[in-house]
Amino acid sequence: MSRLIVEGGARLTGEVNISGAKNAALPVVVATLMGEGESLIFDIPALRDINNLIKILESLGAEVHYENNRLKVNSDGVNRLEAPYSLARQMRASYYTLGALLARYGEAATTLPGGCEIGNRPIDLHLKGFKALGADVNIEHGVVELKADKLTGDKIYLDYPSVGATMNIMMAASMAEGKTIIENSAREPEIVDLANYLNVMGADIKGAGTDIIRINGVEKLIGSEYTIIPDRIETGTYMMAAAITRGDVYVNNVLVEHVKPLIAKLKEMGVEIEEDVDRVRVNATKDLKSVDIKTLPYPGFPTDMQSQMMALLTRAEGTSIVIETVFENRFGHVDELKRMGANLKIDGKAVIVEQSELSGAKVTATDLRAGAALILGGLVAEGETKINDIYHIKRGYENVTEKFRGLGAKIKEVK
Ligand code: UD1
Repeated sequence: MSRLIVEGGARLTGEVNISGAKNAALPVVVATLMGEGESLIFDIPALRDINNLIKILESLGAEVHYENNRLKVNSDGVNRLEAPYSLARQMRASYYTLGALLARYGEAATTLPGGCEIGNRPIDLHLKGFKALGADVNIEHGVVELKADKLTGDKIYLDYPSVGATMNIMMAASMAEGKTIIENSAREPEIVDLANYLNVMGADIKGAGTDIIRINGVEKLIGSEYTIIPDRIETGTYMMAAAITRGDVYVNNVLVEHVKPLIAKLKEMGVEIEEDVDRVRVNATKDLKSVDIKTLPYPGFPTDMQSQMMALLTRAEGTSIVIETVFENRFGHVDELKRMGANLKIDGKAVIVEQSELSGAKVTATDLRAGAALILGGLVAEGETKINDIYHIKRGYENVTEKFRGLGAKIKEVK
């Protein structure tokens, strides 16, 4: 078991390069199963979740080569339509195989998904979509099975703009007969990335990035080349790390548009931000002011930056209120940050954050972004912070130790 040891006190300076987006890469990697012949995808981050997904693709019979962030997939040899339990249970994104395999083969199965422990996370909206397209859905012994002689386009209203459901339905509908309209679809940049990749393969999807997506089904998709967008959550994490240490950091390879909600909040806190075409400079020399945060679907403040923001707010003058509306159980970092001296009070969906001095402690990454919040806390805590269960962090941050060290952080991984 590895842990991270962070010695607080270093001011971050310099430059950091952002990797391809995990949450765009995961569905795109699965969508390679839909294209005939070979797909070549660039900027796939080297992450635990990606390695896991590659194993799932191989177990289904696809030929996969992954090197230097390039992924080559030939899925013509797929001969199994169920993601194996041992791999699927480790990651939620395995459920994207449902939409992809159903589209191309009319059949798919997987175990009910695992992933971060941040709430109940049902998949009813995914299943509602598959049913509307004509699939039979069977759930037995924790396994979801889909079967369809033929998929037919339909109008599907999502009760909540779920990212995963929008992606899964978009994949299935790409190869359904006729037109599908997804209403109240999620608008996250990762949805747009998946739609772009499917369109490059020959799909006909319009409106991705808005709340109505229109899909004209096509008979087949052809494997293609594609490059994944930069990771907006990783971008935000390094921006907040710069801010918490009162540093001066250039974050490179970013799509600034995607981090606007964070930029607005950081500016409100008194952080200076310079925006360039593909990079941002975060300069945090002034005192930090408290702000209130409410997580919402895109383009609202992302739930995936809530925990890191909470760590940052412990260093801001005054009282801040953080409200989580996307997931019902996403405050795992609160107890851990409290161990470090943070003055936090949970009140239902809200956490009241008072300015606090942090001190190093033994803490546990309870989920991916909670782990990132603990690194941020550790960067400004007095003394040493030891973070356990860092496999969560590695699910989502490529070369995290090296990147932080490159900015001057005192951080190391020990076995
Ligand atoms: C994705 C991201 C995750 C991010 C989240 C919200 C990936 C791999 N993960 O997760 O990092 O935090 O978007 O931006 O891309 N819901 C239902 N029924 C469903 C589906 C979802 O009730 O069928 C609920 C969930 O329980 C949750 C909310 O909808 O409360 C949002 O979930 P969703 O947008 O689906 O998130 P994920 O796709 O799981």
